[in-house]
Amino acid sequence: MVKAPGDLHEGEGRVVDGVAFRKEHGRVQAFSAVCPHEACDVEWNAEERTWDCPCHGSRFTADGSVLNGPAVEPLKPVEVEK
Ligand code: FES
Repeated sequence: MVKAPGDLHEGEGRVVDGVAFRKEHGRVQAFSAVCPHEACDVEWNAEERTWDCPCHGSRFTADGSVLNGPAVEPLKPVEVEK
């Protein structure tokens, strides 16, 4: 279980200490930032509103589902402290 950054803005995504945080409609979701392909850290793409992996180009939706491979598994959810 992780604590969300207190200054995370609506619509923002941010990686902190290996956890990818995303805030939408007042609700914070968190995922492991580790790409399931070969373990690079994903980065938030604010323009496309996706999580993108800089290593081999995998892309994930804001809620962690695979958009483009080579990754075939989604980002792993992490429970957020309420
Ligand atoms: S490690 Fe992310 S696409 Fe390969």
